[in-house]
Amino acid sequence: MNDPSIPGPRPADPLIALRPWEAPEVTSWGRLPMNAVDRRTGALPLDGDWRFQLLPAPDAPVGGSWSTAYVPGAWTVQGTDDLPQYTNVTMPFRAFPPESPAADPTGVYERELDVPAEWAGRRIVLQVGAAESVLLVHVDGRPVGVSKDSHLAAEFDLTGVVRPGGRSVLRLTVVKWSDATHIEDQDHWWHGGITRSVLLYATDPFRLADVTVRARRDGDLRVDCQVRNAAGDRALPDGWYVTGDLDGEPLAQDAEFDRLNTEDDRVSDFLGEARIHATVSGVRTWNAEQPELYGLTVRLHRADGTVADTSYQRVGFRDVEIVGRDLLVNGERVFVRGVNRHDFHPLTGRTVSYDDMRADLVLLKRFGFNAIRTSHYPNDPALYDLADELGFYVVDEADIESHDHAHEIADDPRYLNAFVDRVSRMVLRDKNHPSVIIWSLGNESDYGANHDAAAGWVRRHDPTRPLQYEGAAKRGWADPDVASDIACPMYASLEDCVAHALSGEQTKPLIQCEYSHAMGNSNGTLADHWAAIESTPGLQGGFIWEFWDHGILQRVSDGRPVGRAGAGLYDNGVAAPGHRWAYGGDFGEALHDGAFVADGIVFPDRTPKPAMYEHREIAAPVRIRCLRHEGIVLANHQHFRGFDWLTGSWELALADGRTLTGPAVLPELCPGETAAVPLPFEVPADGGEAWLTLRVTVAEDQAWAPAGTEICAPQIRIRAADPLGPPVPAGPAVEVDDEGLLRHPLLAAAPVLSLWRAPTDNDDLGGIAPRWRAWGLDRLVRKVVSVRRDGGRSETGVPPAEGWGTVTVLAEYAGTVGVVRHRQEFTPVEGGVRVDESAELPPEFADVARVGSVFETVAGFDLLEWFGQGPWESYPDRAAGAPVGHHSLPVDELFTPYLRPQESGGRHGVRRFTLSAPDAAGLAVELDGPRQVSVSRYRAEDLTAVTHHDELVPRAGCVVHIDAAHRGLGTASCGPDTFPSYLVAPGVHRWSWTLRVR
Ligand code: GAL
Ligand code: MG
Repeated sequence: MNDPSIPGPRPADPLIALRPWEAPEVTSWGRLPMNAVDRRTGALPLDGDWRFQLLPAPDAPVGGSWSTAYVPGAWTVQGTDDLPQYTNVTMPFRAFPPESPAADPTGVYERELDVPAEWAGRRIVLQVGAAESVLLVHVDGRPVGVSKDSHLAAEFDLTGVVRPGGRSVLRLTVVKWSDATHIEDQDHWWHGGITRSVLLYATDPFRLADVTVRARRDGDLRVDCQVRNAAGDRALPDGWYVTGDLDGEPLAQDAEFDRLNTEDDRVSDFLGEARIHATVSGVRTWNAEQPELYGLTVRLHRADGTVADTSYQRVGFRDVEIVGRDLLVNGERVFVRGVNRHDFHPLTGRTVSYDDMRADLVLLKRFGFNAIRTSHYPNDPALYDLADELGFYVVDEADIESHDHAHEIADDPRYLNAFVDRVSRMVLRDKNHPSVIIWSLGNESDYGANHDAAAGWVRRHDPTRPLQYEGAAKRGWADPDVASDIACPMYASLEDCVAHALSGEQTKPLIQCEYSHAMGNSNGTLADHWAAIESTPGLQGGFIWEFWDHGILQRVSDGRPVGRAGAGLYDNGVAAPGHRWAYGGDFGEALHDGAFVADGIVFPDRTPKPAMYEHREIAAPVRIRCLRHEGIVLANHQHFRGFDWLTGSWELALADGRTLTGPAVLPELCPGETAAVPLPFEVPADGGEAWLTLRVTVAEDQAWAPAGTEICAPQIRIRAADPLGPPVPAGPAVEVDDEGLLRHPLLAAAPVLSLWRAPTDNDDLGGIAPRWRAWGLDRLVRKVVSVRRDGGRSETGVPPAEGWGTVTVLAEYAGTVGVVRHRQEFTPVEGGVRVDESAELPPEFADVARVGSVFETVAGFDLLEWFGQGPWESYPDRAAGAPVGHHSLPVDELFTPYLRPQESGGRHGVRRFTLSAPDAAGLAVELDGPRQVSVSRYRAEDLTAVTHHDELVPRAGCVVHIDAAHRGLGTASCGPDTFPSYLVAPGVHRWSWTLRVR
């Protein structure tokens, strides 16, 4: 197959001579118009291994040796020396728009095209799914076309260029850096290559050139079919006609052709338009909860009734409108529980298969998401099919981001074509998808005349959907004159959003296009956001930033990406031994933005981060509330569905260790309705604190979840805990040494004060972690002040045994700007020791990570059991999704492997825990109330000493933190910090705990 005798494009090649990579006005040449007719079925797939060579520049001669590259795929992960690079805002090269650098990796892909003989007489079209960033097409050395836009397909008419039954050589040249790169400056990895499928298809010369469907919730269906001819005749032959059917039912129609060019032979290949207009009675409407679809087939018939062309698509009947400041779907003000999703895969970098996309969307559905913003470019067509089918509201975003040169480009007329081209081609392709409810003009490109031009085109072409653009909305959330029908800020403070909704000035729905930045251990205050959204008219939700942690699987030995060969090398958020998740800088890039690319709610292998469970609960379709006298109240928080598709079970967790369970029958409730139901259990009079949980599961298979899948677990407290009494001294003496350190056979390090955590990404980038370091909190110097050994007296007045009593230790912990006074009172109690502590934080330590105790156990403990929130990780401002109960997990699984090691694995609201070892004594800790606890194989400083997990060496013992107070996580790596109520304030903190051997 490898035939180097095929000549490369000679210097005289017009496609090269034109230098389209530095001509922003040139968006395409020889490319066919975009349309919504799906040609995937029946096409000849051209995916697979292609001959490949990487040139140093687009005008460099072809002629070196050929290797192979897989299509679709990025060459940057396929063994070339051009490796992935990550930058956020900064352009990867130094050149002003529209220039591109002289060193410009250019991939030349070649393969033979064997054109089926049966295609004789047919129109033959090449479709290239996506090429990054400029595509040049040659067949047998002849120039065929040019296309830009790395995230939309380009089609070229090869009729007459290739010969049916013959063999041609197809060459696709992909230029990595171009004028277009300046408007594709999105925050993700830079790659090069052909990243979506390539195919060849054939149609009748007379064909359905486009089909536009408008299907409304009242059953009104309008289908506009454009008919064109490839060449030759300028008129549709006599007697041709169009029919349509919906799920096999013929549609009554007035399929008259309009604008038939029978009379006028000067007009183009546009022959006419046939319209089908029907009313579907008793229509099942489409919405994200019940995505009802119908199969629409449109056929172009010859006069004899045979079919010349067919278009099949699934359609959904639904309306989107803005009324006042509400976005309505089918008349309902729906909440937008969205996420931003990039095309990402840890092995391929950019290329995602149908199965990958489906897995992404299924996971999102299971965690309560109902909306996707295709940040920041149109996705593969299959994603919209899946969104239609599984039920998502989609904000479809055009491939325009000029972040680094935003101000210059937004009004630069040289880029006008590109803006209109990109937006209009997206709309032309995706207009028939019910899932697409909003068009977006792009991202972070300032706001200029080029946007208004594109907006004007969209408003005329598709008046059925709102339009949004953050850059325009920024000019004024209520401004009627900007190109955004939605107030769609990014990372606005909740305070500002609520204030706007209450101001009386709001004119547009407020739906944040990005919020709750999921970098590392993050998404604090998500529940507070949603409490406000659900209770404030005018607020309708937002899109979490973002779905993926873009960690590329990398071999540690040679630093190379594993590419498509590495399937199965990753699991559970941790790359397999010998591999790691690479982030910015790991491929030797001099210019990069580090771990900022790892900011998703799923790990690179799609394992959900704990924050996903928080979202799942916040989005729960079923809510429960306590009613003082009548038992409990259940509420239906869906917009369109009853509870018939759900079932559940009750669980009552008692502090004494018991968990009672029983089946639950959900009442029939319409959306928005509530019903009082009796308590499902006779609550035992004893047993202490009691929590009632409703585990809601899917009753019958859904497209995205088999029956039995748990989708939420709302919970209420039925009975409060008894307060912890004073210690009842008993047992042998507590051993405390002269340094005031507790000696205990199961502890490798005595409990001391801790004010610091391994900074999260939010702590670092938000600016608090540098202050902690400046205050010396990461290296406090402990000095014992006094150790007092009292002869104790038991509550019962029984005289103490010899040497038995309370030991009080006073110590000082000095930072660079202040000193904390710490008091520990150790009292022997039945089977162990009770520790009562207090710490007084001076005002200089205004905002610390935690106040609590840290100790280390001896080796051997490998199981943690606890009564508290869980089972997944939770923190004070991210604790809505972790129900209180009796949980247990192996110690090694408590840790959450955020890509850059940082504070992780905390459990909120822990009342009690035990650490056990096989066949050995265990350690039981009882707390004075719900506390933040973490049990880990790593000290905070172990985590900060490294940049990736493969460098961490687990300790044999456990590092245990018990916190009287722990700072919330917030989202300050990009956006608001946690709320003041989740900060650790200076002043006196008190906490008590009891340690027992069992
Ligand atoms: C936004 C931007 C995203 C991403 C995010 C930070 O400003 O639109 O693309 O950069 O910030 O992760
Ligand atoms: Mg950006």
